[in-house]
Amino acid sequence: MEKNTRRSEVVIELDHVVKVYGTKKTEYTAIRDISMSVKKGEFVSVLGPSGSGKTTLMNLIGTLDRPTSGRILLDGVDTSTLDSRELAVLRNRKIGFIFQSYNLVPYLNMLENVTLPLIVDGLDTTENIERGREMLKEVGLDGKLALKPNELSGGQQQRVAIVRALINRPPIVLADEPTGNLDSKTSDAVMQMLKRMAKENNITIVMVTHEQDIAEFSERSIYLKDGIIEKYVTVKK
Ligand SMILES: Nc1ncnc2c1ncn2[C@@H]1O[C@H](COP(=O)(O)OP(=O)(O)OP(=O)(O)O)[C@@H](O)[C@H]1O
Ligand SMILES: [Mg+2]
Repeated sequence: MEKNTRRSEVVIELDHVVKVYGTKKTEYTAIRDISMSVKKGEFVSVLGPSGSGKTTLMNLIGTLDRPTSGRILLDGVDTSTLDSRELAVLRNRKIGFIFQSYNLVPYLNMLENVTLPLIVDGLDTTENIERGREMLKEVGLDGKLALKPNELSGGQQQRVAIVRALINRPPIVLADEPTGNLDSKTSDAVMQMLKRMAKENNITIVMVTHEQDIAEFSERSIYLKDGIIEKYVTVKK
């Protein structure tokens, strides 16, 4: 375990969170009652069967969706008190997203994809763009900066997506099955890179996966079942 004095600082806190989808007739409770917290710099994985509420939980933590009841605090901010514009600002500043399907912008090249969050946040200084270039180099993609997503392999695209998620140095990264489309060798390389970059920047990660060997890159696993936490497991090193 790393020697981080701020380790006990809580970055993500869920307090009796419930999510009900649909209208009264079609009502479905995807998250029944979840309370949990994640500490600064911690790497948590979320596992559980299909339909157990993993993506719903990520969308709630990522403020892409609001809970039906309960509270979610991010970096000490109670997200229920923010309107949608304020949430959008908080999302861009505090959260990096990584999806299974990379979600790169097809008509932008790699460097442009990576620096997009900087532009959105008005942080596209020469220095920051240079840092994007450096990070792409670090993940072995120098020479590919001018290429478009369809000219790269899946693993290469996901490495770009990871750099994009980290470029603003967000305190939190949320990843929903980031290796879902990758072969196991590429998955391992991508996970090692994500873990290293997160550690270097003291970034908190919550990652959904259904692969046990991918979960082992994390420090702690949360198992969901039917919208509640079934158990926590500390990953043995
Ligand atoms: N927008 C929605 N409207 C209604 N029901 C939904 C909606 N999104 C998800 N659900 C339901 O909520 C439950 C949890 O879905 P969720 O996508 O969170 O599962 P998951 O654990 O991510 O599954 P998977 O491993 O297949 O990705 C499912 O039963 C699903 O049908
Ligand atoms: Mg899902």
